[in-house]
Amino acid sequence: ALADHVRIIEVGPRDGLQNEKKSIPVETKIELVKRLAKTGLTTIEAGSFVAPKWVPQMAASDKVLSSILASPPSSPTPITYQWLLPNSKGLDNYFKIMNTSSSAPDGYPTPPPSPKSDAGPALNTSPQNPNESTAPNQSHEVSIFMAATETFSKKNTNCTVQESLDRFAPLIKASKEAGYPVRAYISVALGCPFEGPDVDPHRVAEIATSLMEMGADELSVADTTGMGTAPRTRKLLQTLKEAGIRNEDVAMHFHDTFGQALINTMVSLDHGIRAFDSAVGGLGGCPYSPGATGNVATEDLVYALHSLGAKTGVDLEECSRIGEWITGEIGKGNASSAGRATLAR
Ligand code: HMG
Ligand code: MG
Repeated sequence: ALADHVRIIEVGPRDGLQNEKKSIPVETKIELVKRLAKTGLTTIEAGSFVAPKWVPQMAASDKVLSSILASPPSSPTPITYQWLLPNSKGLDNYFKIMNTSSSAPDGYPTPPPSPKSDAGPALNTSPQNPNESTAPNQSHEVSIFMAATETFSKKNTNCTVQESLDRFAPLIKASKEAGYPVRAYISVALGCPFEGPDVDPHRVAEIATSLMEMGADELSVADTTGMGTAPRTRKLLQTLKEAGIRNEDVAMHFHDTFGQALINTMVSLDHGIRAFDSAVGGLGGCPYSPGATGNVATEDLVYALHSLGAKTGVDLEECSRIGEWITGEIGKGNASSAGRATLAR
């Protein structure tokens, strides 16, 4: 049995909801985070600070963050909330909320006066020791994202792969100087909707190396399109290892479009990966990846991991109820087999 602890990064509130066409009330988004916080999950990606013209559904993420800061969701364990952002404007908008809320009057500790950051003009609004001034059961991190192919990079973030790297170097620095660890996604690592399944694993490894050198704290290697297969997942992980990327710095992010997410998870576990992204109810999809469907469902992942003897600390029944509830709220079918079966027991 696999007695190890496996960390699950719940991306439902961000990846899960970002692609929904119908506007979801911000109250529902906040309620989703509150419910997820009670399940034993320790990492939740709760929203994104991207251009609202590009992804309208995430426009209220500032309100979700403000709400988490003002009335911290109760949780059995401390929770790290992650916030996805593509550029310095996103980081500025994120800093603005962290600053405003941490000096808010409603019982919230005020941070010490912060000396001027040397992060440059666009990025100088960061608070000092931000994670010390938030509630004791929460901390906050930044997620950045780029792609392994040029076409997807252009479609998703309107820049080349090299421009992404150039953009993120100062951004990672500024975020870390402000006290927020950085996770870095590499999209389309196992297949691109525009360039096909054969994405060069060496290219992924090069990008991974650059991101780690720039100071990223964790990589999330993403199968955006769900085109990944067991042999190609194995090959990618071997290539990453040969390039010097450590397993403990990697989380895998599988979309389940072709039903391969759990098989690819199994391959990754064999390889020694111990962190996985997932979304309750199998929600998810990237607006700039046509045809791609949801993330692997958290319920399915938890069920599979527990069957292997792994510890996740996550309550399967609670997650199943949340998956059923949120898919109902947004008028979608519950895509989690383990979730539906658990509720039918
Ligand atoms: P652009 O059009 O080149 O940006 O887009 P720009 O700098 O020219 O700005 C255009 C307008 O957007 C301006 O407003 C900016 O102020 C505004 P205007 O002057 O026209 O009124 N703007 C912003 N507003 C708010 N927040 C910001 C921001 N930035 C600019 N951060 C940009 C470039 C990167 C901004 C755009 O392409 C973008 O936002 N892309 C995000 C796309 C996205 O969110 N995709 C989904 C997330 S990634 C994903 O799902 C994959 C993942 O799950 C892993 C996987 O599965 O692969 C992570
Ligand atoms: Mg995704």
